[in-house]
Amino acid sequence: MLCLAGTSLCFAQAKIYQNPNAPVEERVKDALSRMTVHEKVLLLHGQSKFTSAGVPRLGIKELHHSDGPHGCRAEVEWNSWNTANWNNDSCVAFPSLTCLAATWNRDMSAIYGKAVAEEFAFRDKNIMLGPGVNINRMPLNGRNFEYMGEDPLLAGEMVVPYIQNAQKQGIACCLKHFFVNNQEWHRERVNVNASERAIREIYLPAFRKGVVEGGAWSVMGSYNKWLNIHCCENDSLLNGILKGEWGFDGAVVSDWGGVHSTMGAALGGMDIEMGTGAGDGVSSRGIKTYTYNTNFLGDNFEKLINEGKIPMSVLDDKASRVLRTIFRTAMNPNKVIGELCSEEHYDVCLQIAEEGIVLMKNDRNLLPIDVSRYSHILVVGENATRSLTEGGGSSELKTKLDISPLDGLRAAFGDRIDYAQGYYSGRAMYAMQERTDSTRQAQLKAEALEKAKSADLIIFIGGMNKNGGQDCEATDRNEYQLSFGQPELIAALAKIQKNIVVVTFGGNPFDTSCMKSVPAFLHCWYLGSISGTAIANIVSGKVNPSGKLPITFAANKNDYPCFHYGERGFPGVNDQLYYDEGIFVGYRYFNTNNVKPAFAFGHGLSYTTFAYGKPTVSASTSGKKTVTVSIPVRNTGKVTGKEVVQLYIGKNGSKVERPEKELKDFAKVSLNPGEEKTVSFTIDDEDLQYWDETTHSWQVESGKYTVYINSSEVVNKGKVVFVR
Ligand code: BGC
Repeated sequence: MLCLAGTSLCFAQAKIYQNPNAPVEERVKDALSRMTVHEKVLLLHGQSKFTSAGVPRLGIKELHHSDGPHGCRAEVEWNSWNTANWNNDSCVAFPSLTCLAATWNRDMSAIYGKAVAEEFAFRDKNIMLGPGVNINRMPLNGRNFEYMGEDPLLAGEMVVPYIQNAQKQGIACCLKHFFVNNQEWHRERVNVNASERAIREIYLPAFRKGVVEGGAWSVMGSYNKWLNIHCCENDSLLNGILKGEWGFDGAVVSDWGGVHSTMGAALGGMDIEMGTGAGDGVSSRGIKTYTYNTNFLGDNFEKLINEGKIPMSVLDDKASRVLRTIFRTAMNPNKVIGELCSEEHYDVCLQIAEEGIVLMKNDRNLLPIDVSRYSHILVVGENATRSLTEGGGSSELKTKLDISPLDGLRAAFGDRIDYAQGYYSGRAMYAMQERTDSTRQAQLKAEALEKAKSADLIIFIGGMNKNGGQDCEATDRNEYQLSFGQPELIAALAKIQKNIVVVTFGGNPFDTSCMKSVPAFLHCWYLGSISGTAIANIVSGKVNPSGKLPITFAANKNDYPCFHYGERGFPGVNDQLYYDEGIFVGYRYFNTNNVKPAFAFGHGLSYTTFAYGKPTVSASTSGKKTVTVSIPVRNTGKVTGKEVVQLYIGKNGSKVERPEKELKDFAKVSLNPGEEKTVSFTIDDEDLQYWDETTHSWQVESGKYTVYINSSEVVNKGKVVFVR
């Protein structure tokens, strides 16, 4: 209190925390000094399903959280998961994060982050629950579509521009689910046993990049356990690695209902407990109220603080982290107004969708479709008409515009298009896959086969669909094959008409043996609001495909190493899950053990061809020890195209077990016909290191390394050796 000498006038001291121009740290310090213990505690847990409190007495705003990560989820009721039934909360559904990863284009991540955050800003949200960078270890994981593939370098590189550009809008990203949340089965109970090396080399790096380089303002603790402790209460993970080693200064948010004890959350590094549920109360007027004081970081926590059983410094640290998040977002003077469903956002959605679609196969150059050759194009498949922005769990979106593949193809090819559903799946969210009626299934199949006889081109549109048991939160896939009789239907259609294009959706790899008799095959992940236009632009040749797989499609499910050790590897034994394959996840296993994938990591065709010249290597002459590898790439075809040049490195004669080679960098280049560009990569020690479990540190071996310049993990375009 400041009092004027000789008068009775006293003024509250200047409220630095309310000064938008003051540095965030000063605002935090000032706000904290004015708050009671109770007010600090209130910041640390939910006050509704998707908000956490501010300090109304001081004019400090609350935080509004929302899923994430593909668009801003529709409103739910204040205290329940029920839809709030608003009519102003439709958004743009952006492509799934797997699709973003498949673009292998950092610029796409940047425009994605900016656009999606603008939608959150317009909806008055502060924390976007995403993006997710859990590694695709297990090909049946129901949430793989929400992540960025199987490789830590690719996921890490792609997540950084997303976070940076989202947060520039004043919206916090909540990087999730930290960590080793690689399956949905018993996700709240399962404990992951993985080697220190696998943790460091495979499961942590993308999170580290998101925090250290992306500067994520919040991180979501996952449901599962590590070291037999829930990740939301895991001192080694949250205080040790995240806040300690990586210097994370933001707020750790729990996954909804992921906190299980007061002491665990208090001392284990949790800052905002969400989703634990409300206690019922009754107001003095007899009205039902909800109170979140029963949360683990509620009354009980406050009592332990007041009794001195938990140090005040723990409370102050947590409250400071939440205040920092509030000043960075809700009370950030630079937070944008944003926009919802703007033309610009649809453009972003379309560009990413087009760049993420992977041309898996294109025999006889069946694609792009030469319309002059076909008068009757039959589209078959439920996914041609079904909304794929719905379903899947918390990433589900309510969209204003949802252009289906059939709409897109009709717009491109007009009256030539006919349609037969071919199979059906039902709509079974969260539950296990709905049982389908075999009579109806047979009728739909017969109808499609009948129509196929008069078609001169078939476009089959199927794959997964975000149903429970397909690819959906809280469940894993039931099988590696496509469901609902799709493989048999595809084979039968291909027998009738050899001009058949198969288009599939889904975030997971699957058994593609049914594609043997199919000349053209596109995999589309999930493409968001204007899915149909993106597909039409690719099949018509308006856009040249340039997506590359961020995952390995194995020929057989059991080729994936997580299935090699019985139930230990999946789904776990007595809720103990063992990552016995260690660092040999995804292509690292396939290349080291000479197992041929059906479609390799990094694979993706184009309507043009690229020729690679000879790679050259030069060592830096000054400062940091680096090596530069350069390679010329030329477009040798007739249309403009984009190529993803991939750099892998392997250690010759390593003294430790290592994959044959690992992705260390990549570049996407656009080339006009005949054009050539030289792509250069700089390699430093960080690209060569491995985690040493005896010294618990990164080590770099001296000696020879081989650099592979590839157009997919298995297609080498040039090698050079250098000595470190
Ligand atoms: C999911 C999170 C999501 C949260 C809020 C949880 O069940 O695992 O990804 O952000 O719910 O919807």
